[in-house]
Amino acid sequence: MPVFPRTAHSLVQLLREAQAEHGWLPRPLLAQLAAELGLTLAHVEGVASFYRFFHLRPVGRYRILFSDNITDRMLGSEALMAELCERLRVRPGAVREDGRVSVAPTSCTGLGDQGPALLVNHHQVVTRLDAARVARIAELVEAEVPPDRWPAEWSQVDDQVRRPDVLLGSAIAPGEALAAAIARGPEATLAEVQRANLRGRGGAGFATGTKWSLCRQAPGEARVVVCNADEGEPGTFKDRVLLTRHADLVFEGMTVAALAIGATQGLVYLRGEYRYLLDHLEAVLARRRAAGLLGHAIQGRAGFDFDIAIHVGAGAYVCGEESALIESLEGKRGTPRIRPPFPVEHGYLGRPTSVNNVETFCAAAHIVLHGGAWWAGIGTPKSTGTKIHSICGDCERPGLYEYPLGTRVETMLVDCGARDTQAVQVGGPSGTCLSAFEFGRRIAFEDVPTAGALMVFDRSRDMFEVARNFAHFFAHESCGFCTPCRVGTALVVRRLDKLAAGRGSRHDVDVLYELDRLMHGATHCGLGGAACNPLRDTIAKFRPAYERRLVSLHFEPAFDLDAELAEARAATGRDDPAAHLEHVDG
Ligand SMILES: Cc1cc2nc3c(=O)[nH]c(=O)nc-3n(C[C@H](O)[C@H](O)[C@H](O)COP(=O)(O)O)c2cc1C
Ligand code: SF4
Repeated sequence: MPVFPRTAHSLVQLLREAQAEHGWLPRPLLAQLAAELGLTLAHVEGVASFYRFFHLRPVGRYRILFSDNITDRMLGSEALMAELCERLRVRPGAVREDGRVSVAPTSCTGLGDQGPALLVNHHQVVTRLDAARVARIAELVEAEVPPDRWPAEWSQVDDQVRRPDVLLGSAIAPGEALAAAIARGPEATLAEVQRANLRGRGGAGFATGTKWSLCRQAPGEARVVVCNADEGEPGTFKDRVLLTRHADLVFEGMTVAALAIGATQGLVYLRGEYRYLLDHLEAVLARRRAAGLLGHAIQGRAGFDFDIAIHVGAGAYVCGEESALIESLEGKRGTPRIRPPFPVEHGYLGRPTSVNNVETFCAAAHIVLHGGAWWAGIGTPKSTGTKIHSICGDCERPGLYEYPLGTRVETMLVDCGARDTQAVQVGGPSGTCLSAFEFGRRIAFEDVPTAGALMVFDRSRDMFEVARNFAHFFAHESCGFCTPCRVGTALVVRRLDKLAAGRGSRHDVDVLYELDRLMHGATHCGLGGAACNPLRDTIAKFRPAYERRLVSLHFEPAFDLDAELAEARAATGRDDPAAHLEHVDG
C-alpha cells in the first residue's frame, strides 16, 4: 500500500486512512489532522463534508449502501432494500439505535450487469441480490459476522466480456507497447497517436494526440499523466473490467503517454466504489516496477523516469470531471475549476497535466504497437477505432461489448438479446435517450456519441420514472458551487416528484422546459449542462408517459397542505375534517 506524504495535498487520502481506522471522522481527529498539516479545522471539515463516503458523525458498524441506478431498480432493488430495513429494524438513511447498522441508497456502483448490488463499509460488494441473500445478510449482521467472512461468492464480480474486439480480445505482453514507443522515440510516438485520430473515451471526445502535444509543449517541469478511473456515470462499468483484466495495458498506456509528453509522475484516480480493486492494482504496479517497466531509466532508456500512484475517491460523481478530479487529487473539495487555464497547462499542483480515460490509455498502447494507420482504418473517418460499451437493463446478456465506432444501435440490441425495446439510454444519464425509430443510428462522435453506457428499456418500462431517477441522481451529485445547477436540479426533482404524486398539471411541464432552457449553457461544469438531457429527450420522445400523470387543471400548486400535515395529524391523532382545504373552500 502506498504511504501518502503527510501534507495538505494528501488530505483526501489521509482522511480515508483515518476513517478506515476509526470508522468515522470525529472532530478531535480532524483538529489533530488540521494542526499536523498546517490547515484550519474549517478547511479540513469542509473537505471531509464534501465527500459522501466520509462520515462526520458516528455511523453503523455495518454501512450498507444499495446501488440506486434505474437498472438496479428494474431488478427490484427498492423492495430488497425495504426488506432489509424491515428485517434489521432500521429506517433507510438512519443509524440503528444500537449503532450497529445503517442502510441507505447510493448512486450506481458500477455493477449494472450483475445487479441489484450493494456496498458494505465502502469496500466490499455484494452482487446479484435476491430475497434469500437479503435475509441472510440480515442474519449475518445480527450475528456480528464481519463482512470479510460473508460467503465469498457474494462478492464475486464477473467480467462478462460478451463481444471482444481489439482492446478486449487481443493481449499485449507487459512492456511490448512500451518497447515499441521507446524504439520510435517521444515525437514519433506522439505522431502515431495523432495519425490514429484517437479521441478520448471519457465522454468529451477530445483528440488525444492534440491533448498530449499541448501538454508536452506547455511551459513547466514535472509533467503529470492522470488516469481518470472515476467511472461514475450510471450504467457504465467498462473501466471496472479493463482495470480488472487489463491493468497492465492501462499502466502501459499511461507510461507510453509519459514518454510522449515527457511526464515523470502518474496518478490513477480510482472511484471509491472500486476500492476492492486496489490490492490487485497495487500488485500489478509492483510487478511492473520489479520488471523495470516503472521507476528509473525505464527499459534501460536513460532519463525516462516515471512511476504511478493510486488515489482512491470518496463517493463524488463530479470528481470525474477532470478539473474537479485534480482538485481532489490535491486534497481539496472536488469543485470544478474555472477554465482556462486548462489542465494541460496548469493541472495537478500547477504542472502541465494530461487527464485521460482508462480506455483511452488502452487504445494508445495498441496504437503505438500496431500503428496509427491501423487504428484509423477501424471505425469511421471521424470516429476511429473501437469503443467498449457497458450494456445492461432489459436484455438477456448484459456485459461488455466492443464494436468499431459507427456500429448501429440495432446491431447491439440484437447481440445483447434485447426484445421489445422501447428506448436505449446511450452514454448514461448525461447522454442521449433514443426511441425505437432511432435504433438505426450509429454510435460515433458524428452521430450518437457515448462514454460507454448503454441501458436498455423494454416496453413495460415507464420512461417518466427513468427520467425521474436520473433527475434525482443529478440533484444528489450537484456539487452546489453554481446556482443554476444547485437550484435548477432541485427544482427539476421537485416538479417531477409532483408529477409522480399525480398532482402535476400542464404548467409543470412548461416549467420543466423553462428550467432546461435556463440551465443550459449557464452552469459552471458539464454536470449541470447535462442534467436536463434525459428530461428533454423523454418529454420530446415519450410525452404520453408525462401526460398520463397530468391532472386536467392548467395549474396545481406545488404545496399540498394535506400532505404536509399528514405526518403531524397521524402523530397527534387529531384530524379535524373542517381543516382540509376542500372543506374550507366548499
Ligand atoms: C460531471 C462529469 C463527470 C465525468 N466523469 C468522467 C469519468 O468518470 N471518467 C472519465 O474518463 N471522464 C469523465 N468526465 C470527462 C472528463 O472531464 C475528461 O473529459 C476525461 O477524463 C478526459 O479523458 P479523455 O480525453 O480520455 O476522454 C466527466 C465529465 C463531467 C463533466
Ligand atoms: S454545474 Fe453543478 S456540479 Fe458543476 S460546478 Fe456547478 S453546481 Fe457544481
